[in-house]
Amino acid sequence: MKQIAVVGAGLMGHALALVFALGGHRVRLTDSNQATLDGSMALIEKAAATLIAAGEADPSWTPERLAGVISRHEKLADTVHDADLVIEAVAEIAEVKETLFRQLDELAPAEAVFASNTSNLDVFPLIPKHRWKRALIAHWYTPPYLVDLVDLVPTPETDPAVTAEVKAMLEAMGKVPVVFRKFVTGYVANRIQEAIALETFRLMDEGVVTAEEIDLSVIHGLALRMPILGVMGKADFTGLELIRQNMANATYRPPAVTGRSATLDQVVDAGHGGVRAGKGFYDWSDRTPGELFQDRDNRLLALKKALRHIKPMVPK
Ligand SMILES: NC(=O)c1ccc[n+]([C@@H]2O[C@H](COP(=O)([O-])OP(=O)(O)OC[C@H]3O[C@@H](n4cnc5c(N)ncnc54)[C@H](O)[C@@H]3O)[C@@H](O)[C@H]2O)c1
Repeated sequence: MKQIAVVGAGLMGHALALVFALGGHRVRLTDSNQATLDGSMALIEKAAATLIAAGEADPSWTPERLAGVISRHEKLADTVHDADLVIEAVAEIAEVKETLFRQLDELAPAEAVFASNTSNLDVFPLIPKHRWKRALIAHWYTPPYLVDLVDLVPTPETDPAVTAEVKAMLEAMGKVPVVFRKFVTGYVANRIQEAIALETFRLMDEGVVTAEEIDLSVIHGLALRMPILGVMGKADFTGLELIRQNMANATYRPPAVTGRSATLDQVVDAGHGGVRAGKGFYDWSDRTPGELFQDRDNRLLALKKALRHIKPMVPK
C-alpha cells in the first residue's frame, strides 16, 4: 500500500482519490478551494455507491471505510509530506501548475514521484529539473473509475524503474497504462477524438448532416467494431491495401484545417454548453447534471460488463 497525495479535488481529483483508495492505497486529498474540498467526499461516496450497485466495487466500501483511507487537508504540506506518489490534478493553467510544482518540490519527500494529469500542456518545463528523474505524466480519462486507459509519459530523464513501478501499480489496480516514447500534446485517444471533431463539425458546417445523424453514423457504424478490434485491428480486417487506397482517395481532406466551426460557435455562443448547461446539441434539461452523469456511469458499467464477457479480438 502506498501513500498517495492528490492535489486538486475537482472533476478529476476527487475521482482519482476514489480510484487509488479502491486500488488499495491511502490517499490524502487537497484543493485550494474550500467549497470544492468540502464537497468532494459526497461525490466520492456517490461514485463508490454507483460502482457497488453495479457489482464493480466491494460493498464493504461504505462511507466510513472510504473516510478511513481518504483524508482531506486544507494545507498542501499536510497533504504531501509523506507521499510516495503526488498526483497533480489542478487547473490546466501553466502558471498554476508551475507554482504548485515549486511548492511540491519544497514540501514533498525527495523520493516522491510526481505525476501530472495535464491534458495538453507541455508540463515538463514546469517541473523543477532535479525532480525529472522521478516525474512523469499520468493522464487519465473521465470518469477515471470507469475509463481504464492511463497515458504515461516519462520526462526525458525519468528513471525507467519509476515508469515501470507506476505502470505496475496501475495495472495492479485494473487500469490500462500506455507508455509513450515521447511527449505529444493530445496523446493518442484525444488526438483521434480531435480528428473526429474536426471532421464532424466540418460536415455540419457544410450542411451535410445534423448532430443526430452524426451520432447515428458513429453509434451504428463506426463505434460498433471499435471495442472489439480497435482501429488497427479493424484495418487488418478491412485489408491494408484497401486502407492505403482509401487514404489516397480521401479527397475530402480539408485543404487547411482552421480549428473553428461555425456550427459549434453558434451553439456555444447561445449559452448551450452541454449537459452541465442543460442543453448542448441535445436538450438535457429533463434531469439534473448529477442524474445524467450517474445514468452515463450506469450505462458505461453495463457496456464494460458485456465487453468483458465478449472480449476484444486484439491486441493478440
Ligand atoms: N476534466 C477532464 O475530463 C480531464 C481529463 C483528463 C485530464 N484533465 C486534467 O486534469 C486537471 C484537472 O482538471 P479538472 O477537470 O479536474 O478541473 P477542475 O477545474 O474540475 O478541478 C481543478 C481543481 O484544482 C483546484 N486548484 C487550482 N489550483 C490549485 C492549487 N494550487 N492547489 C490545489 N488545488 C488547486 C481548483 O480549485 C479546482 O477545484 C487539468 O490539468 C485537466 O486538464 C481533465
